[in-house]
Amino acid sequence: MERIYLDHNATTPVRQEVRDKMLPFYGELFGNPSSAHSFGQEVKVPLEEARQRIAGQLGASTAQIVFTSGGTESDNYAIKGVAFAAEKGHIITALTEHPAVLQTVSWLAKKGFDATYLEVDSKGLVDPDDLRKALRPDTILVSIMHVNNEVGTIQPIEELGAITREAGVYFHTDAVQSFGKLPTNVDELNVDLLSVAAHKIYGPKGVGALYIRKGTRIDPLIIGGAQEKRRRSGTENIAGIVGFGEAIVLAEAEREEVYERLTLLRQKLVQGIGERIPEVVINGDPERNFPSTVSASVSHVEGESLLLSLDMEGIAVSTGSACSSGSLEPSHVLVAMGIDTVLAQGTLRFSMGRGTTQAEIGYLLDVFPPIVERLRKMSPLSASKAC
Ligand SMILES: Cc1ncc(COP(=O)(O)O)c(C=O)c1O
Repeated sequence: MERIYLDHNATTPVRQEVRDKMLPFYGELFGNPSSAHSFGQEVKVPLEEARQRIAGQLGASTAQIVFTSGGTESDNYAIKGVAFAAEKGHIITALTEHPAVLQTVSWLAKKGFDATYLEVDSKGLVDPDDLRKALRPDTILVSIMHVNNEVGTIQPIEELGAITREAGVYFHTDAVQSFGKLPTNVDELNVDLLSVAAHKIYGPKGVGALYIRKGTRIDPLIIGGAQEKRRRSGTENIAGIVGFGEAIVLAEAEREEVYERLTLLRQKLVQGIGERIPEVVINGDPERNFPSTVSASVSHVEGESLLLSLDMEGIAVSTGSACSSGSLEPSHVLVAMGIDTVLAQGTLRFSMGRGTTQAEIGYLLDVFPPIVERLRKMSPLSASKAC
């Protein structure tokens, strides 16, 4: 059976061109870039070339890029780093952030920092006026993501950043889902800190970066060596970093074309679901949605059952729910958007990628409606509706 991968927001396959660039670093180019001899120096050059590529994509200078182990570490570094340097103060974030941000902020709140979690509207958008009102004289950081990983809502980062800058407060954005897919110029976005990861753009897992604007007061998270100008100790993951550098150049070269193609595929998918399945809500903002992502809440069925049934047909998607300790908890993102908690449990996230085809979406639209119909007939959620 041919398999169809519609979970690109979770991760993407490493491109052949990226793998080809990485391989020598598992062979003859094995040196440590901190070594002064030729083995070290011959890997230092590609390391700095990759840094140049990431910086170029962000409109930043190479001195402002620190390589990390991925999006989670970059988020932790940005938030804890600013908090540790300030020693005390108030942090603002939003209820729909990735757990890498939310849990870092709540951990700091337990350590004595103050935290405010901004609400979002039914489309998942933060209201800039809410941010204005939440800012306090002791606010040290605002962290709002660029593109939401579950529903695809694009936050007005430029506007939120301008408000934060006017208040003299640092602004971090988690751009893990937008880097290489939308323009992410740090000056245009008005950000001081920005997190990215390679594995969302057909690069390797376990590699990311944090952009840090010059002058930002931030403590390192990982210490013990002088790497990355003492901002992130540990011998660099050269193969991964080189792969990341290749992945971003390839992503940028096709960015606009992929965006247009995904926009058409998204229209086809949303329209097809609407026409073929009754009682489905498409979550997010129709005007400000990254086109790879379709979050669909299907009434009277559980997302897990839908996911497993689609998997049996060879289609990989994810749910909008986290299965914890045997009970299905609705996604914090959907709950924050005000989606009914029972409906939220019937949510699937379809996330398309550069290789997704019309035929694949057509196949999904053929097999998905009968699955929903079958599960609805069996569902206790349908029975409860009848009562
Ligand atoms: C918005 C967002 N932030 C952070 C992360 C974490 O990135 P990583 O898996 O590279 O640690 C992800 C990945 O799912 C994400 O989607």
